[in-house]
Amino acid sequence: MGPSMPDAFEQMWADLAPVGRSASTTGYNRSPFGTAERECHAWFVEQCRARGLRVEHDGNGNTVGWWEVSTGSSASAVLTGSHLDSVLDGGAYDGPLGVVSALAAIDLLRERGFEPGRPVGVAVFAEEEGSRFGLACLGSRLAVGATSPEQARELTDRDGVPLEDAMAATGLEPALGRSAWLDRVGCYIELHVEQGRDLVHRDQPVGVASAIWPHGRYRFDFAGEANHAGTTLMEDRHDPMLTCAMTALAANKQAQLAGQRATFGRLEVAPNGTNAVPSRVIAWLDARCESEEQLTALVETIEKQARDRAVRDGTQLTVTAESVSPAVVFDRDLAQRLASGGFETGAARLPQPPMKPIIPTAAGHDAGILSAAGVPTAMLFVRNPTGISHSPAEHAETADCLAGVTALADALQDLAS
Ligand code: HGY
Ligand code: MN
Ligand code: MN
Repeated sequence: MGPSMPDAFEQMWADLAPVGRSASTTGYNRSPFGTAERECHAWFVEQCRARGLRVEHDGNGNTVGWWEVSTGSSASAVLTGSHLDSVLDGGAYDGPLGVVSALAAIDLLRERGFEPGRPVGVAVFAEEEGSRFGLACLGSRLAVGATSPEQARELTDRDGVPLEDAMAATGLEPALGRSAWLDRVGCYIELHVEQGRDLVHRDQPVGVASAIWPHGRYRFDFAGEANHAGTTLMEDRHDPMLTCAMTALAANKQAQLAGQRATFGRLEVAPNGTNAVPSRVIAWLDARCESEEQLTALVETIEKQARDRAVRDGTQLTVTAESVSPAVVFDRDLAQRLASGGFETGAARLPQPPMKPIIPTAAGHDAGILSAAGVPTAMLFVRNPTGISHSPAEHAETADCLAGVTALADALQDLAS
């Protein structure tokens, strides 16, 4: 018998801790198909092998470990997992907690002497954050066919490197397209650190997702007229930085007025000189709303105010939707089943633990892509004491993480019996 599940969890967590971590900020930079992220995938393959899981690479950069059943049953598989790529300077838990918890849940099931009646898979999806190629959940979108190989081949990173070149540079054989493993999947359960404080307010260590808000990423190209910062009179300028700055303020104000979310967190300035009026400013809007109508309305309002300001500044604006994720409502029965936590163990129903809260999120996930593709899907959230995410300050207490592993193991035992 190997180490106890908590020890295995701690060991896996310690293994991953240094990979891609910045010494100065302690944040993580695990860019898809970059050294650190591929080191994480290699670590995952090693962990699968140590558990006798069959490893599958699907040509989209996703890695799946399979706990096959000895009876060779053709029953549909239960898939769990998450992602190992991070945002720029991200936290330790967003993604990895779901992968480590999936492996630890398998350890716990084996400690219980559980033998699955159907295959159990652990998936690590590539480029969930969209931080390198701009399209969120790229690996899972390719896997389910929501993004075609042709669309994916158009994508390049900030240095102009195309997706397939980045994949090939790591030694992967790109074979973009719907993944074969999808046909065997009957349901998907993703565990993720909560990105917010709902569970803190409810004083609950684990929750279940009800829905994902619709959200999108929009590129605002502001074009102006480069000129001298000193000799150009203020009234003679066509300064795209001004139009951009007013747009960021408008986005914040409109989101507050509508009770929704809007962020400009990424900026590129050309030529980015200290003593020159810029010729061009590119800014990316991340907008998220409770409904698709509100998302459309919010982005339209922000764009209209940006265009009005561009007329005053004598600048030009082009807006491009780069990544749009429709609203996701998770499978209600599956959510209820996970929330109740009880399940048949053949002999009798286990004592009913307290119901877990079922809560929405404004964060996107691969679970949203699989759900939208028709795979019955549910998510488990683990309490994050500060709610902070996409930041080195992201954190979850070990006790809550272990409660999450137990909830995931219970769900897998229930669904894979
Ligand atoms: O951006 C998101 O919502 C997710 O963390 N990828
Ligand atoms: Mn995530
Ligand atoms: Mn994230």
